[in-house]
Amino acid sequence: VLKGLPKAFDENLLIGYDSSDDAAIYKLTDELAIVMTLDFFTPVVEDPYTFGKIAAANALSDVYAMGGVVKSALNIVAFPEKEMDTRILGEILRGGAEKVHEAGGVLSGGHSIGDVQPVYGLSVMGIVHPDKILPNNGCKIGDKIILTKPLGVGIIMAAHRLSASPLECYDEAVKNMETLNKYAADVMRNYNVNACTDVTGFGFLGHLGEMIESGMSAVVYANRVPIIKGALDLAKDFYITGSAQKNANFMKDRVNMEDIRFEQKEILYDPQTSGGLLISVPGCEADALLSALRRAGVDAHEVGAITTYKGFDIEVKNG
Ligand code: CO
Ligand code: CO
Repeated sequence: VLKGLPKAFDENLLIGYDSSDDAAIYKLTDELAIVMTLDFFTPVVEDPYTFGKIAAANALSDVYAMGGVVKSALNIVAFPEKEMDTRILGEILRGGAEKVHEAGGVLSGGHSIGDVQPVYGLSVMGIVHPDKILPNNGCKIGDKIILTKPLGVGIIMAAHRLSASPLECYDEAVKNMETLNKYAADVMRNYNVNACTDVTGFGFLGHLGEMIESGMSAVVYANRVPIIKGALDLAKDFYITGSAQKNANFMKDRVNMEDIRFEQKEILYDPQTSGGLLISVPGCEADALLSALRRAGVDAHEVGAITTYKGFDIEVKNG
């Protein structure tokens, strides 16, 4: 659909919608660019306060995925004011405001409309030095790939809707979705990271696919990919999602899987809400970045590497 729109022609628009990146970036001066992004969705959990926190953490994440710092945010709201108690909306907004505050940003306004179901999210403004922008596609051969949150929230939430998810599994998924990528980004900024994105609806392999350019392959060690405890068992019991099948279909010509079990594959394509950062860092800095992330309390794991082209854009194995 976007192909039909007039092309952007402002030379200060460093990243726009014609590259499939996490956020738009507009250069103001040689030292300063603004990062702009927005995201919103219908409730992913029953509790409105928790929903607010998750929606905000998800919207803020794209600023971090670009290497930026959050400065301000605006609320985006739709709410059925006649059918639902507005105290529920109050709780959603409280959760969102807390996350903006935690991000170091200031909530500066917003807009609401009446609608048949609640929708909440943020429009976020951040800043970045124009030379420090982290695009999706900047991976170099020899890089290691680091993931900063475990996978599986899509499967767990699907199972939860059918009352099939163990409570500790659900709680872990919620905790991960609420967690800001700020803490990972604050550490990442001190290293010579080549590329970064955040894992959301296209799943781990879908987003990794956006990072890979011609002449290189990503080798992924499926058994090293962090997974929320219980998610593999749920996938084995066929608590799977339509979006994961869509992601798998979209990527199938680009991905080669060697001896990967059904449930592992489901996890690798599982759509994430407010997922972790996927970081491509030079191999010589990978260990230092990994331990710095862990010292900062981030559940980071090295999950693969960028190599010369091996016949597929992504090779997945256990090893
Ligand atoms: Co993103
Ligand atoms: Co987004």
